[in-house]
Amino acid sequence: MSERVLLKIGGSVITDKSVQGRIRYDEIGRISKVIASRHDLALLLVHGAGSCGHPEASRFNLAGGVSEANRAGIFETHLAVARLNAGFVGSLREAGAEAVGVHLLSAGFADDGRLIPGEFPQVGKMISLGIVPVLHGDVVMDRTRGACIVSGDQLVNLLAEPLGMARIGVATDVPGVLCDGEVIPEITPESQKTLEVGASGHTDVTGGMSGKVRELLFLAERGISSDIFHASRIGDFLDGRPHGGTRVRKD
Ligand code: IPE
Repeated sequence: MSERVLLKIGGSVITDKSVQGRIRYDEIGRISKVIASRHDLALLLVHGAGSCGHPEASRFNLAGGVSEANRAGIFETHLAVARLNAGFVGSLREAGAEAVGVHLLSAGFADDGRLIPGEFPQVGKMISLGIVPVLHGDVVMDRTRGACIVSGDQLVNLLAEPLGMARIGVATDVPGVLCDGEVIPEITPESQKTLEVGASGHTDVTGGMSGKVRELLFLAERGISSDIFHASRIGDFLDGRPHGGTRVRKD
């Protein structure tokens, strides 16, 4: 059986964050070719939203919960990120991968901002048929909040174990987790505590990156390692070569 590999690609890699809704088709095309040429891997892809979803989620204040007053944000946010998903899936298929988009709005349910863990048998079945499922951070209906945003990183944390992923990689627009401008080669639940202490100084584990690390540390606590690296190193990661980034692992 082929090795199962989960790759998340950050929204900042595949969209231009400075222009709402602008998809970076050149970068998507380059990444698609790298991915489609790895025929020996059973791949599961997840991507973020970048400027296709974050602006809408913020405009409708979805993070504060969803009621009748802002429910239109569910459609608008999903539409934006689903459009990005369609662009990515189209590019992957053009490059030769048997990619299929899967939307969490229809496939998942959340409680208080966290996706309710499940087996995702439909995704597992796709992988065993040689299909590359392409999931993404999405707006998800939520038992207590009405709806919420589930990030691609949260998805990585929740999908990796039930779907038996042997390797997990997160590609970003920076070379790894940075401290004083240098890549930290390794983070563990224990070392993260010291990093947080240093965060008031120059440690660059903030914003998007800190959310990413938090989700990957949940995985590390369960004994599952993962890697954060620059999107230009996706090929190295897929081939199991050094990628110059950060490994998140158990102490
Ligand atoms: C966000 O997903 C999803 C929406 C806002 C709809 P992510 O949090 O994974 O996206 P990026 O990678 O930070 O852009």
